[in-house]
Amino acid sequence: MTFEQLIPAPARAEGPGGDGFVLDASTTLWAGPGTQTTEHWLRGTLGAALRLPLAPGAEGAPGSVALRLDSELEAEAYRLTVTGDGVEIRGGTAAGVFWGAQTLRQLLGAAAFRRAPIAPGREYTVPQGVIEDAPRFGWRGMMLDVSRHFTPKEGVLRYLDLLAAHKLNVFHFHLTDDQGWRLEIKRYPKLTEVGAWRSRTKWGHRQSELWDEKPHGGFYTQDDIREIVAYADSLHITVVPEIDIPGHSQAAIAAYPELGNTDVIDTAALGVWDTWGVTPNVLAPNDHTLRFYEGVFEEVLELFPSTFIHVGGDECPKEQWKDSAAAQARIEELGVSNEDELQSWFIRHFDKWLSARGRRLIGWDEILEGGLAEGAAVSSWRGYSGGIAAAQAGHDVVMCPEQHVYLDHRQHGGPDEPVPIGWVRTLEDVYRFEPVPAQLSAEEAEHVLGTQANVWTEVMESHGRVDYQVFPRLAAFAEVAWRTLPAPAERDFADFERRMTAHYARLDALGVDYRPPGGPLPWQQRPGVGGRPIEGLPPMV
Ligand code: ACM
Repeated sequence: MTFEQLIPAPARAEGPGGDGFVLDASTTLWAGPGTQTTEHWLRGTLGAALRLPLAPGAEGAPGSVALRLDSELEAEAYRLTVTGDGVEIRGGTAAGVFWGAQTLRQLLGAAAFRRAPIAPGREYTVPQGVIEDAPRFGWRGMMLDVSRHFTPKEGVLRYLDLLAAHKLNVFHFHLTDDQGWRLEIKRYPKLTEVGAWRSRTKWGHRQSELWDEKPHGGFYTQDDIREIVAYADSLHITVVPEIDIPGHSQAAIAAYPELGNTDVIDTAALGVWDTWGVTPNVLAPNDHTLRFYEGVFEEVLELFPSTFIHVGGDECPKEQWKDSAAAQARIEELGVSNEDELQSWFIRHFDKWLSARGRRLIGWDEILEGGLAEGAAVSSWRGYSGGIAAAQAGHDVVMCPEQHVYLDHRQHGGPDEPVPIGWVRTLEDVYRFEPVPAQLSAEEAEHVLGTQANVWTEVMESHGRVDYQVFPRLAAFAEVAWRTLPAPAERDFADFERRMTAHYARLDALGVDYRPPGGPLPWQQRPGVGGRPIEGLPPMV
């Protein structure tokens, strides 16, 4: 293993030289103050993979791995130094030390990514040298949609491990949508008793004629969430929960019909949605709905310490509000001029509500329509333009344009891609994704907190299907989020591909069902299940 096989590649590496340092049963671990998460992770993960005790040792003892904070380094930066005598990882914060430990694991080879040794007694040598590294962005995320297809708790914990292995630090947890409510809310038990289950599921894109006729569902108890959040915290990952309002709410309306526009349709007849797309069945913009969701968010805030709380805000059709006498009366009463401004009023309410509790609202870029709430941040998904407008108006932005980093979109134009939807976005395309558009001035660009890849699971019915869509592209995305790379056309994709050879071996050791470079294996294909490919790519705006 050399320094040239790391993903993401570090900012600076010197070496390797010398014989390297051998980790064996006598290697000790000294963890300075504030580095306990990494100490625990090294013993539990690396120690288990290599069956090494990494017993507590003295500071400065030869033959040790030493962890320490270093106030001269930036927050998430680290310096990894390997001599013939030992390993030292310094980090600007505990997170920096942890990212350094992730680099150490990659330097030990694919075996370090297993849960137990396959060659007991083997020696593990770390190449000698110095690596200095720091991330470009503070928000390096992945969004997982657990509503369209539920990912049981174990699968979420596994994804947190996979994010950490790629130095990603935000897990955007899309917990509610039309097709399922996945979070236990104690004061509203029907959200999960009713809203977490649907009787059948569209199999393929919504235009497909196929159905999976078995019930689908699941939810996380509040204890599951506490475990997920604590586990993420031990990996220096922030969990940003999303409760989608006022659209994408049919599962909540199925559970509590009074949340819907009862003067327009018989909301009591609505079930949890069983197909895909954008439903017209949205929340009623009234005080009852506000109070109900304040109750939901009160429990959300108790469970999730994240500063940012995602309120969705995307794809809220306004037909029912146009047809609803109650919604029209609300427009009049508020003195706003149309339904977009009514949505804006709705979102602003939660912006103020969250701010008063020391949190910050983030929503999809539709929250710009009708005026953006003060202090709100935007997930720019319909291209770059929402993010550009928000950053120019002084709002913070997370760049996740669907044309580039929607990992549900197909990764090859061939006929064997499983349920192909959207644009072709290859591994190389993702590697050439640039999160900061050239239109932004340096000052405006400061508002780009970072970037995230989004994983919508309509056509991903199993964890293997999620893995297939996410990997290997998440590895390219991780490098884009971590490193300051040259302009897209000048990026050395050949070098990235060469490093991927080592990385595929790591993914194999982790049991990731990625898309092989040669195309899907027979069991990864879904012949006959209709998708909806989009040809060509619209202009990048
Ligand atoms: C989205 O893709 N509707 C945010």
